[in-house]
Amino acid sequence: MARTLNIGMIGYGFMARAHSNAYSKVNHFFDVPYRPVLKAVCARDEAKAKAFAATWGYESVETDWRKLVARKDIDAVDICVPNNLHREIALAAAAAGKAILCEKPLAMNSDEGAQMAAAVEAAGVANMVWYNYRRIPAVTLAKKLIDEGRLGRVFHYRAVFLQDWTISADLPQGGTALWRLDVAAAGSGVTGDLLAHCIDTALWLNGGIDRVTAMTETFVKERKHNLTGKVEPVGIDDACAFLARFKNGSLATFESTRYARGHKALYTLEINGDRASIQWNLHDLHRLSYFDHRDEGTLRGWRSIHVTDGDHPYMGRWWVPGLQIGYEHSFVHQLADFLDGLANDQAASPTFRDALETQKVCDAVLESGRTAQWVAVG
Ligand SMILES: NC(=O)c1ccc[n+]([C@@H]2O[C@H](COP(=O)([O-])OP(=O)(O)OC[C@H]3O[C@@H](n4cnc5c(N)ncnc54)[C@H](O)[C@@H]3O)[C@@H](O)[C@H]2O)c1
Repeated sequence: MARTLNIGMIGYGFMARAHSNAYSKVNHFFDVPYRPVLKAVCARDEAKAKAFAATWGYESVETDWRKLVARKDIDAVDICVPNNLHREIALAAAAAGKAILCEKPLAMNSDEGAQMAAAVEAAGVANMVWYNYRRIPAVTLAKKLIDEGRLGRVFHYRAVFLQDWTISADLPQGGTALWRLDVAAAGSGVTGDLLAHCIDTALWLNGGIDRVTAMTETFVKERKHNLTGKVEPVGIDDACAFLARFKNGSLATFESTRYARGHKALYTLEINGDRASIQWNLHDLHRLSYFDHRDEGTLRGWRSIHVTDGDHPYMGRWWVPGLQIGYEHSFVHQLADFLDGLANDQAASPTFRDALETQKVCDAVLESGRTAQWVAVG
């Protein structure tokens, strides 16, 4: 019989929905030792919090996250609010002895991230950051192939994350949904928002990054701020491209922008080794492309593996072979791993300490963007 884990959700936006969906589904598909109970959701607007609670089945609402964190009946706090709130909430939740599931990026910068990692470790509370792309079965399969040594020596890593939703100069910054354009709430632009995903996957698949050199640009320099009503300078990076050297000697290119007309959320990655290469694409997320040079010459070519079979990562828990799953399932998988880890005293990755490494790379990228120099990570 699964034990209960009372969840306190902070926020009711995009990620609060994705996570609430995962809490609702996980026990139907995964044989995990805990059963999440949707105990309370917190939002500053009580009517909106009540509407969210009614939709997703939360038992109660709070309008101040401090009250939610202090509640004795909450076991785990889920931080689904803009980046500038992650640190303060996580420190309070750690002090209150709660398990913490925090959205990415861990923090506004690595100084904050280091404080958060130290706090959860000192308090001895379970912690995890929602870098969910690791748990897309095709990406998890890529990790397995790499760990089996199938790629051999890795020469190149290539990652791209493209969007196009901020091209209009009339788009304001700040407030609901547009906090991503406000440096005071987001910390950075595409670097912390999109490249952080690419960096997390890259560190997981290919090991640590040694140094980086970056160029960043803010194409629209001023935007009306929704909170002040005034036109204010834009402090985020609208686009960022950087080169990196991994500790294993491989070379990398990373690019992200919100100005790639036609692209909504195109995350692609490619890794080239001396024996084999892999490619993955978020728009076709259930496929992994694999090229193995050791294949018989006349048949050698890119295989497009439909990652839907029972022996593919996580897939045995879903439908019958050949039937696909989607984006939202990556959160169910990450939650299932977290709940398994709770019972076995094993942290599900990435922990705050793991995610701090991504934060350090982001800091180095932003510093390099400012100074036009190579910057050592950390
Ligand atoms: N893992 C992913 O793929 C992914 C995707 C999107 C966002 N995120 C991350 O998730 C976090 C939230 O992003 P989102 O897209 O859900 O944003 P969102 O704008 O959809 O929702 C943010 C929520 O925070 C609430 N909020 C703001 N200040 C608050 C406060 N003081 N107290 C309580 N609630 C407050 C807002 O009312 C809103 O409900 C961010 O850190 C973001 O980087 C991760």
